[in-house]
Amino acid sequence: MSVRLALSVAAALVLSLTACSSDVPMTVSSPDGALTIGVELQDGRPHYHVEADGDSLVATSPLGFAFDNAPPLRDGFEVTGTTRRTVDTTWTPVWGTQDSVRNHFTERTIRLQETDAPERRLTLVLRAYNDGVAFRYRWPEQDGLDSLHIASEETQFRFTTDHTAWWIPDDYDNYEWVYRETPLSAIRDSASAISYNSYLEEVDDGRPETTSKDDHPGAVNPPLTLRSPEEERYLALHEAALTDYSSMTLRADPETPTTLHTTLVPWPDGVKVKASVPHRTPWRVLQVADRPGGLIESHILQNLNEPSKIDDPSWIEPMTYVGIWWGMHIGTYSWGRNGVHGATTERAKRYMDFAAAHDIDGVLVEGWNTGWETWLGGDEFNFTESYPDFDLQEVVDYGKEKGVALVGHHETGGDVPAYEEQMDEAFALYDSVGVPAIKTGYAGPIRPEGVHHHGQQMVNHYRRVVKLAAEHEIVLDVHEPVMGTGIERTWPNMMTREGVRGMEYNAWDEPSPPSHDVTLPFTRMLAGPLDYTPGIFDLTPEETMPDHRVLTTLSKQLANMVILYSPVQMAADLVENYEGEAAVEFLERMPADWAESHVLNARIGESITIARRKADGEEWYVGTTTNAEARTLSIPLEVLDDGQTYVAHVFEDTPEADYQDAPHAYRIRRGLVTSEDVIEADLARSGGQAVILEPATAEEEKQYDALE
Ligand code: NOJ
Ligand code: CA
Repeated sequence: MSVRLALSVAAALVLSLTACSSDVPMTVSSPDGALTIGVELQDGRPHYHVEADGDSLVATSPLGFAFDNAPPLRDGFEVTGTTRRTVDTTWTPVWGTQDSVRNHFTERTIRLQETDAPERRLTLVLRAYNDGVAFRYRWPEQDGLDSLHIASEETQFRFTTDHTAWWIPDDYDNYEWVYRETPLSAIRDSASAISYNSYLEEVDDGRPETTSKDDHPGAVNPPLTLRSPEEERYLALHEAALTDYSSMTLRADPETPTTLHTTLVPWPDGVKVKASVPHRTPWRVLQVADRPGGLIESHILQNLNEPSKIDDPSWIEPMTYVGIWWGMHIGTYSWGRNGVHGATTERAKRYMDFAAAHDIDGVLVEGWNTGWETWLGGDEFNFTESYPDFDLQEVVDYGKEKGVALVGHHETGGDVPAYEEQMDEAFALYDSVGVPAIKTGYAGPIRPEGVHHHGQQMVNHYRRVVKLAAEHEIVLDVHEPVMGTGIERTWPNMMTREGVRGMEYNAWDEPSPPSHDVTLPFTRMLAGPLDYTPGIFDLTPEETMPDHRVLTTLSKQLANMVILYSPVQMAADLVENYEGEAAVEFLERMPADWAESHVLNARIGESITIARRKADGEEWYVGTTTNAEARTLSIPLEVLDDGQTYVAHVFEDTPEADYQDAPHAYRIRRGLVTSEDVIEADLARSGGQAVILEPATAEEEKQYDALE
């Protein structure tokens, strides 16, 4: 038995208690004793509550369900038994921000049964971790309850304080919004969507405009991030292990706007979830931290998911990539033949050459397969037929010789029935030619009409694709996905996903404001890796985007490569914009997998520093960014090994740099540092600093002076 396994077994202390009355203890506290979650029956209806250090975070809040095919399951219960266990194990992710993750929690299972016929049974499972609490419902196998048609999940979250909240509107098909910061109670009165055209006004006068888009006003899509009024506590509400269920959205109570109701994304017929018993819901998760960086460093979502189902994950490899991609978004190339076709064999080889010369692992090629001329109009994508000017096998073989992988692409346009028909062949083709990674996309309304990107049918579709990909030993980057809920622990080939207003918006429409990418680490990124696609060097592509630009400095783009975590990380610009640019050194060296990660500075929506150590290495990468305010931040280097001297390579804004006036002004300085030093980051407006710290050789110790 390995030492790790022996420790795990020894630490998995299991205590059990069964009783038949409702005065048995029904609470559970985190291993450090700070967080408590408990359940109680009020007139036979289960309610739960959450406390931190004796303060109430979530007041007693009701639980239960209404069904379409049965009476509600919400009251008339008695407790038939409870069990308690503590688990303390450590697991090794296939890839991640940390090379080993401790999973330490205390759990209480509470079995409920209706006192009157039909005496249905429902189980509640509560977990308390040091970094949050969670609960889920389970329907055990039982006579008289075979199938569930959930009309509503009645879980409420009765927050006790009007926290500051960061949120995106409730939208059943799209998470590509700029996050808003408002009091929690203001969600109730918000329209559901923010006008695309108001972003710049929002930056200028701080008053975001809302449109009258009235589909789900007063509701948000999680993760929902909260900060307490005294700023001593940071919370994030989300779900974990979303499997065979619909996504949760959160609707503010009309009377008490700090109370949120669970709403589930419906099927076309209005039913929310259709399932057979036994079944269970995803976990409802409340992350709790005493600093904003604590939310980012937490692994609670992954810990709430099951261990990997892929026995031999040796084929799953993190990677950096470039692609024939940004060119289509800025209008230089087209996907189909109705313009300058981007995906030609020749251009793909050129990208392969660039990747090989700069230590980049992959090249994404979009628009190599036929059907793009009718995209968003009546898609007829063929996932196996290439345009005449693209030879798939030739490009893959060319890359292989140079050690560069082709990243394949499946844009479905939302036509899921057509994709499902072709999927087997499409994956088999990529497998046979030797493509190890595929970007999928669902840019368009899901067919058949009325099916939503975030509903149960699509949750199940996305999972079918993950499993099919695993059979072919292919990893995935999913665009227009359902939000991450930690399933990458169970399916580590599900490597990254969009589900974010990414770089492409800066090419099409109003650019995202400078606060956007400094808000994402504390909001969207809590749900897992994000394919934001940073790394643009030409921030003002005048020829094709004369009216607007990417609203950051170049150094901020580099820092975002470290901060906006993706194990399949894109450097998104045209390769010609990288060639000859000194800052390309940073992209060249950037790994996509990490041994440890620490958040060193953090103000949500304002500034952030994240330091990450390379997997199996001694090198550190430190990214720091700011919103539209120029500022100086101190970065203490305490994470470095004591007694070791490091060379610091600092890529940063020059004093003249400014996201409006001089976005390209950067410099590189180098010098020696130790763990006792502090690096100053002088950040321009919407600026950044990206630092590589590597142990100095004896020669380098002579070559460099102390960093100025
Ligand atoms: C939207 C995706 O987000 C983008 O990355 C992709 O290029 C287009 N769809 C076309 O598939
Ligand atoms: Ca998208």
